[in-house]
Amino acid sequence: MSRRDSMLREMGIAPLWRDRASPSPQQATVEALPDAQAPAEASRPAAPVRVEAAPARAVTRVVTPKVTPIAAPSSTVSAEGLGWDELEQCIRACQACRLGERRTQAVPGVGDREADWLFVGEGPGAEEDARGEPFVGQAGKLLDAMLASLGLARGHKVYIANAVKCRPPGNRTPEADEIATCHPYLDRQIELIRPRIIVALGRPAAQTLLGGEIKIAAARGRLFQRKGVPVVVTYHPAYLLRNPQDKARAWEDLCFARASVV
Ligand code: URA
Repeated sequence: MSRRDSMLREMGIAPLWRDRASPSPQQATVEALPDAQAPAEASRPAAPVRVEAAPARAVTRVVTPKVTPIAAPSSTVSAEGLGWDELEQCIRACQACRLGERRTQAVPGVGDREADWLFVGEGPGAEEDARGEPFVGQAGKLLDAMLASLGLARGHKVYIANAVKCRPPGNRTPEADEIATCHPYLDRQIELIRPRIIVALGRPAAQTLLGGEIKIAAARGRLFQRKGVPVVVTYHPAYLLRNPQDKARAWEDLCFARASVV
């Protein structure tokens, strides 16, 4: 059994799925979304980008969705111009929202600071809060298997971050104002990494990256852009653990992401 097949098996989807992106790629045109958090009327669609898209889904032209404003941050954080070390120090010391009160530690992110791939989750859970690293629990194991199915590994050409850097109590979904408050940190991480592709894992990540109401089912298979960086949306690994029947769709999304790397 090939390594890739064994990884797909780990994801629980082999031998059903094969990457259909490589043999017969199709061309697709995508349009940019307005920059996250920019007012809709101030947005300028970027020049259309030619990409090779996986034919697994009939994906062609992305229609810019209606962008609804993200909630106001509870207080203002600035990460502008910070280098990696200063940025991580700021994140670790941050008390800008209520998530700072009950965390054990902030979880800035992990991986290659010059990564091609950036995976963005929702927020740290209990194990991440204890260990200070994103995606180290059960969902993290599945994320590692997803990375391996693409021939990627945590820390090598891959960076993993979250929409919020502190654990929401009881693992609740982060509130919109918490995500908005934390957003400058993610924004700066993206500026520093300059990834070739961003994969949004789940709805909160997609919404913070794309700046509007996003439904995963509708956003899958579309190539978005955020400040010139392609963004692909897929299911959160924790969702996939609860809904293994959707792992095959996630694999399809990862193939689409790989075909969309510019
Ligand atoms: N879920 C997330 O969204 N992020 C983590 O770091 C862990 C679980």
